Amino acid sequence: MKLTIFNGSPRGSKGNSEILINWFKEGFLKERSGDVIIYYLKNQEKHPDMIETLKRSETVLLAFPLYTDAMPGIVKKFIDNLEDYQGSLSGKSLLFLVHSGFPEACHSRGVERYLKKLTAKLGADYLGTIVKGGSEGLRIMPPMMTRKPRLLINQIGERFAGTKSLDPGLLKKLASPERLSPFSRGMYRFMSLIGLSNFYWNGMLKKNGAYKNRFDAPYV
Ligand SMILES: Cc1cc2nc3c(=O)[nH]c(=O)nc-3n(C[C@H](O)[C@H](O)[C@H](O)COP(=O)(O)O)c2cc1C
Repeated sequence: MKLTIFNGSPRGSKGNSEILINWFKEGFLKERSGDVIIYYLKNQEKHPDMIETLKRSETVLLAFPLYTDAMPGIVKKFIDNLEDYQGSLSGKSLLFLVHSGFPEACHSRGVERYLKKLTAKLGADYLGTIVKGGSEGLRIMPPMMTRKPRLLINQIGERFAGTKSLDPGLLKKLASPERLSPFSRGMYRFMSLIGLSNFYWNGMLKKNGAYKNRFDAPYV
């Protein structure tokens, strides 16, 4: 099976999507040697070529992070350009990997339903969506701390290569927690009160010179 992968992260190969894709690919290639090619939607000028590639592909994985509860703009642009191909992708199989900064998988369920409808509109077969919460720290974590999700995604990729389907049990494990427990919610509230939950994001804002603009509301 040839697998074509589209990485929809605006961070391209430096993001968390790349890490998750590589874990899937690692497992996939354990079971089946073959062609796995990754394209980066960040390279917007190449979208027309990528659409041609998609039309020629047998199995396609589209991976992206959640951006304001949906897909990043570059992914939406890519999808919008598929409008002319409605109903014409029969015989192709699509699967998705959606991950989010928030730890709860439930944040990605809305976009998961959209992806299922999108696949039907294109006339392709929907193979499912891999959902993973709490992805933001992955690229800075030492390998020891990411062993568990890596192993799970390896297994998902390996099973997929063998059966061309996603194992529901493994997907459920990876998506845990679907919702935070009352205890965890209490902990987050406490961390927010003492300013700890904003620590990482404030650091990012400062690094990008945007800290002073953090309460801007340009559309109000
Ligand atoms: C502009 C922006 C919007 C985001 N919106 C959400 C969101 O609505 N929900 C969420 O859980 N995470 C959100 N995130 C976090 C990303 O999903 C998370 O950082 C992800 O790991 C980024 O993946 P990448 O490194 O492959 O781009 C957002 C991040 C950015 C930069």
